[in-house]
Amino acid sequence: MANTVVVGAMWGDESKGKLIDYLAHDKDVVVRWGGGSNAGHTVVVDDQEYKLHLVPAGILHPETLCVVADGVVLDPASFVGELEHLKGRGITCENLKISGNAHVVLPYHRLMDELEEKRKGAKAIGTTGRGIGPAYQDKAARIGIRMREFVDPDLFPSRLAEALEFKNQLLTKIYGVEPLDAKQIVDELTPHAEKLRQYVDDTALRVAYAAKSGKKVLFEGAQATLLDIDLGTYPYVTSSHPAAGGACIGTGLGPTQIDQIIAVTKSYSTRVGAGAFPTEQLNATGDLIRERGAEYGTTTGRPRRCGWLDGVALRYSALVNGLTDLYLGHMDVLVGFDEVKIATAYMLDGKQIEDFPSDQARLSRCEPVYITLPGWKEDVSDITEYDKLPGNARRFVEAVEKHTEVPITMVSTGRRRDQTIFRKP
Ligand code: IMO
Ligand code: MG
Repeated sequence: MANTVVVGAMWGDESKGKLIDYLAHDKDVVVRWGGGSNAGHTVVVDDQEYKLHLVPAGILHPETLCVVADGVVLDPASFVGELEHLKGRGITCENLKISGNAHVVLPYHRLMDELEEKRKGAKAIGTTGRGIGPAYQDKAARIGIRMREFVDPDLFPSRLAEALEFKNQLLTKIYGVEPLDAKQIVDELTPHAEKLRQYVDDTALRVAYAAKSGKKVLFEGAQATLLDIDLGTYPYVTSSHPAAGGACIGTGLGPTQIDQIIAVTKSYSTRVGAGAFPTEQLNATGDLIRERGAEYGTTTGRPRRCGWLDGVALRYSALVNGLTDLYLGHMDVLVGFDEVKIATAYMLDGKQIEDFPSDQARLSRCEPVYITLPGWKEDVSDITEYDKLPGNARRFVEAVEKHTEVPITMVSTGRRRDQTIFRKP
């Protein structure tokens, strides 16, 4: 397949990084299209672990062009920190390009994120605190600062002073906190701007020309479908477009140029932050999944909420993303359970429904209806052929496939590149 999109199937943290790293070896360009340092992607190569937030996972392949596209919001300090960490480990990062149109996450965005969460109190979203929402807010309000302005020493100080004039009114008059100092921010961020200038480029054109000349493009999703600001479980979502359609926004490829859309899901469901989660297990099952699956946030270290696989949510994801393939991961985590469950419907106000209601009001009233399958006890972590999986594990895979009506073409049994089973359904 020439151009492939990888998305998170539900609420994130599905180990998209592993698949992206795997697929990148066969692609010429890897494009990260949205989100910011709220993402946390862990890639394990030869027992070396790389934790990435914003630099595309394709960076580990030196011949692959890695693009941070227009839809991303970039925090300069955290981005430079990631680059320096990678360089310290021998990754040159010479294959990186950042869109001049990507918006910059500035210190007041992080501050506003924190202040807004406090203001919301019990209704807080449980954001990652990385300034994501406020940065996208400024982008939509057309008062944001973009990368090309940020790396231009003749433009940035005046653009920042202009923006701060309004932000300081908000900080002092609405939130009752101290104003920020423009000069201090410019002094702090200028060294980062100097380091990032060399990467800034017209990436949409670069990607479009690459595709036109027959190059293969991989779109690296961050966050996930149910965190999409439109398709997700609003308001408990992020502020960007992590669903597959987002891959065409500001990246340089149009919808007709996408050949394959793969969603990554775990064999169970997790969520971080607030919001309805029908299959959540607030009991020993949830605790066991969390411990076995090391379900703690890469970005914030928060324990993730864990539960059985939500097939209703997954089917929705399959429909709204137009999936061609499903990648079912973390099969090793479910080893040892006597029984495993998949939610295939919900009870809502006394009626059984098959379709996922994405609004908080209805979703929070849904009770899952499960199918129960026998578990598997055998270790699966070194299995690389589908037929060698325990029969009950295969029955689980096939039940998910039947319910979602999407072929499961890959099954993951561990964190390393080689712990992947390729399958022709
Ligand atoms: P990856 O790419 C899981 C969640 C936050 C919160 C909501 C809004 O690792 O899958 P934000 O800081 O974006 O305003 O937070 O979205 N969230 C994620 N959850 N994985 C992620 O990324 C996430 N990025 C944001 O926990 O509920
Ligand atoms: Mg994450």
